[in-house]
Amino acid sequence: MTPYMSEGFQIVAIDGGAASGKSSTARGVAGAAHFLHVDTGSHYRAVTLRALAEGLEPREGPALDRFLAGLRFESEVRGRCACIRLNDEVPARADIRSDAVNAAVSAFAALPAVREAVRAYQRDQAGVARQHGFKGLVMDGRDIGTVIFPDADLKVYLEADASTRAARRKEEGQTDTIDDRDRIDSTRATAPLAAAPDAVRIDNSNIPLEGVVDEVLRLLRERSAGARAEESPTQ
Ligand code: CDP
Ligand code: CDP
Repeated sequence: MTPYMSEGFQIVAIDGGAASGKSSTARGVAGAAHFLHVDTGSHYRAVTLRALAEGLEPREGPALDRFLAGLRFESEVRGRCACIRLNDEVPARADIRSDAVNAAVSAFAALPAVREAVRAYQRDQAGVARQHGFKGLVMDGRDIGTVIFPDADLKVYLEADASTRAARRKEEGQTDTIDDRDRIDSTRATAPLAAAPDAVRIDNSNIPLEGVVDEVLRLLRERSAGARAEESPTQ
């Protein structure tokens, strides 16, 4: 049994490359299971947006350290989603998903100082979920099952083939260099994009969103039943 489950609170980690369906799957799971959803990509995007506004280059050094030391991370719960509030401001979705942020976010997210600046905040989201009466937390990103919550009750690694992912972004009307981002994300030294050894891999190239959400909910029920059986084993 994992630590979170023993407290009657579940954590689901969803990782995967760009446009693999992480956020929409996590939103669906949060809606059906009454969990809080946290999209950690928005954290790196919010930091990148601010760094770009201050004219910073994605490079370690005193300027980056000063910038990071001046950031105050808080959450604003809206429905089943915890939005990042950075220095008293919830950045607009359009701003954090702009072409400029798409192009720079992976370079900033690869910097160890940036990852360290968000790590504690991301782990604190389990407490935010509990305080707001949620039954669990579903967090999506690149390193949730490997670094942020290595003890998560369920880890899912989403995949979709390259043409499906490119078509999804095109449909959303975004200019996005998803191949470049995936390459930087999976080859960086700190917390690279990778499936945890105990993650369930789901290729959703040909599975509609509802089907993936149902599968994650089924896996979650299976884990809960397994944990209950562990608690009261039959002789
Ligand atoms: O939505 P999409 O998959 O396009 O990206 P995102 O989840 O918003 O993440 C944007 C970028 O943030 C990624 O390409 C990574 O560089 C970084 N990221 C990360 O390094 N670690 C995470 N846990 C989440 C995002
Ligand atoms: O968060 P991430 O970048 O991994 O992907 P997303 O923003 O959740 O999904 C990208 C697009 O793919 C959205 O328009 C989803 O509706 C769509 N999608 C899909 O068509 N089928 C799935 N199984 C999952 C997502």
